[in-house]
Amino acid sequence: MRTLVIIPTYNERENIGSIVGRVRASAPEVDVLVVDDGSPDGTGELADALAATDASVHVLHRSGKDGLGAAYRAGMAWGLDAGYDAIVEMDADGSHQPEQLPRLLGALRDGGDSGADVVLGSRWVEGGGVVNWPSHRRLISRGGSAYSRIALGLPVRDVTGGYRAFTAEALRTLRFDRTESQGYCFQIDMTRRAYDAGLVIVEVPITFVERERGASKMGGGIVAEAMLRVTLWGITGLPRRFRKRTPARTAEPVGRA
Ligand code: GDD
Ligand code: MN
Repeated sequence: MRTLVIIPTYNERENIGSIVGRVRASAPEVDVLVVDDGSPDGTGELADALAATDASVHVLHRSGKDGLGAAYRAGMAWGLDAGYDAIVEMDADGSHQPEQLPRLLGALRDGGDSGADVVLGSRWVEGGGVVNWPSHRRLISRGGSAYSRIALGLPVRDVTGGYRAFTAEALRTLRFDRTESQGYCFQIDMTRRAYDAGLVIVEVPITFVERERGASKMGGGIVAEAMLRVTLWGITGLPRRFRKRTPARTAEPVGRA
């Protein structure tokens, strides 16, 4: 299975070398695509230097900060064009541990009949968790997942997470290219699309470790976009929820302790 890990970056100079190195060490068979939004701190140039010495590393340069959703849409289109069979989302700051990548990929359908179409790295299932997060971040994340779960009728614990693996087929089926979310709301949109498309979704426990270097790009605008979109999706999706919908094919979380 040809696998591509997409790492979106904005001002991650202190993290990019370490994260790419850890991915290469943890899963030597996978390729990496850094999607940099013209970071003023020189992250893009550092990524180019890594790519120059390692044929498995690629860089997509975008002109300016355009949000996580837009970066992933561009990266996913690049990956499908290049013919990858599986695509992974991963933050650049070390919060998503590359050492847990084999666990995610192990749960993904690898061309056979078994396995998931979409694997969600999950902080909020047994065995998962968060290290060094202030209580307000925990609250936003748990609250955001709970609200999305109820408003959208999703049987998923970690709706907003950003450490995920998709088969190429699943990305096409759920029409990732039709998402419009700019910020982290993209993750919620992908979850709901996967579910509504009847794809097999599995949550795999991950330990999210808060970054030690650089700053989070999370802000009020990102939360506001998510609240607004989830509420609108919830209301416009109501009629469909009362009709018979695709039965939940969500499998039991794997890798539980
Ligand atoms: N290219 C690009 N453009 N990358 C971006 C942008 C952007 O506009 N905004 C953020 N990123 C990158 C960051 O550089 C980092 O690699 C990753 O996206 C995550 O950004 P953080 O700012 O570190 O996110 P977080 O730790 O606050 O949020 C985490 O939790 C969210 C809620 O669960 C992430 O895991 C998110 O993916 C998740 O949705
Ligand atoms: Mn982070």
